[in-house]
Amino acid sequence: MIKLETERLLLRQLQDEDVEAVYAYRSDPDVARYQSSRLYTLEDAKLFVFELKETQLGTVGEWVQLGIILKNEQKLVGDVGIKLNGKQAKIGDIGYTVNPAYQNRGIAKEAVGLVLKTMFTEFDVHKIMATIDPRNIASERLLIHWGFHKEAVFRKHYWDKIDQAWQDEYVYGLLKNEFL
Ligand SMILES: CC(C)(COP(=O)(O)OP(=O)(O)OC[C@H]1O[C@@H](n2cnc3c(N)ncnc32)[C@H](O)[C@@H]1OP(=O)(O)O)[C@@H](O)C(=O)NCCC(=O)NCCS
Repeated sequence: MIKLETERLLLRQLQDEDVEAVYAYRSDPDVARYQSSRLYTLEDAKLFVFELKETQLGTVGEWVQLGIILKNEQKLVGDVGIKLNGKQAKIGDIGYTVNPAYQNRGIAKEAVGLVLKTMFTEFDVHKIMATIDPRNIASERLLIHWGFHKEAVFRKHYWDKIDQAWQDEYVYGLLKNEFL
């Protein structure tokens, strides 16, 4: 079982007992706002956990999702996902979510930093990408914090179901030698 740790956080594979905690934040409209606006039902949270709990860091072609545990509360407060591209296993995409009750405390920065370090050093990944809605300020600041570069602007590229409008997407990238 994968376990990555800082003094404050433990990142580990999802477990059956995480369903309620995952549901609590993934059913929140603020969390879903820039993640396809999909509000999870309890059933969705179960599927999310059951389908992803066996995936191992370093797996190619599918999302690997790690739960973020706040050690002093023994509570799952978010998740970080990484997907290595099927054709070029050395390039991956990253995604992250933190329960709103725990946001703006540096948790995503710390968890993402740990995953980036692990992917670059232990799995020799060459580049990690992230796609964001430009209005998602916290997400963009997180990427900038870790040295990601804005590489592309896709104009009016996805349909925002809430605003009923086409929205831009930014694609950010970070090379191994820019991080280490
Ligand atoms: C993006 C997200 C994971 C950030 O989590 P977090 O733990 O609150 O982030 P951190 O506390 O590590 O802060 C990261 C940066 O965002 C800033 N930030 C955090 N919350 C913010 C807010 N509400 N408004 C503006 N900036 C914010 C922090 O100041 C920090 O920037 P800095 O380094 O320049 O000071 C969280 O907002 C979230 O889960 N959002 C919903 C899901 C989502 O949109 N995921 C990303 C999809 S691309």
